[in-house]
Amino acid sequence: MIRLGVNIDHVATLRQARRAKEPDPVAAAVLAELGGADSITVHLREDRRHIQDRDVYLLRETVRTRLNLEMACSDEIIAIALKVLPDEITLVPEKRQELTTEGGLDIVAHADTTRSAVERLKAAGLHVSLFIDPDLAQLDMAKKLHADAVEFQTAAYSEATTAAQVAVELAKLRTATAHALQLGLHPHLGHGLNYQNVKPIVRIHGVVELNIGHSIVSRAVFAGLEQAVRDMKLAMSEHYPHTRAAL
Ligand code: PXP
Repeated sequence: MIRLGVNIDHVATLRQARRAKEPDPVAAAVLAELGGADSITVHLREDRRHIQDRDVYLLRETVRTRLNLEMACSDEIIAIALKVLPDEITLVPEKRQELTTEGGLDIVAHADTTRSAVERLKAAGLHVSLFIDPDLAQLDMAKKLHADAVEFQTAAYSEATTAAQVAVELAKLRTATAHALQLGLHPHLGHGLNYQNVKPIVRIHGVVELNIGHSIVSRAVFAGLEQAVRDMKLAMSEHYPHTRAAL
């Protein structure tokens, strides 16, 4: 059975839009686990645009499955990871201007920085995955750097607009997954996967884990909106048992 890592960054995006206390990603993690998530994934970005340090520390206490921390190879975030000790680290590229992670980490071009980060994290006993494009040279480098797993960036697949492009991208993911298995690296996949495009992905032989965020949080907004409006109508009614006295 392929594991599902649920990325809850966008629950925090909504909270940070108002610098408010809700919705709390810690509560989202509890519900995601009740729904069957095999792990909870969060990206602590250097600009703290969504997930905050407080979230990561609390999630470490509350997550009952596995906590996967996505992060850049930055000294500041590595220091936090070494305190939190998540079950898995996924090293990702990070640019301040981007809307979301673009492309995989180029570990061939940035071999020294990646090696140093992997060594420091693995010295603390952490399990390290590298988010890379489905490219054989990147995979061979992941092996040389002693990564435990790789996560293939599926953006090119999920953004493909023609059947021919989809077929090309799927073939790359298939070849890369087979190569990862030969190298003894656990193949994970993620980015832009949704309820429609996930089917061909789960048919790729040997995939161990998918990390999915945006489409799940998007569906949660609509799946819960009707009930949320009903609840507000109820809260507005005279007979609603208020828990806090009106001022
Ligand atoms: N995997 C990695 C490494 C990511 O950076 C992201 C996005 O934060 C995801 C998976 C999830 O992507 P999406 O939100 O598009 O499902």
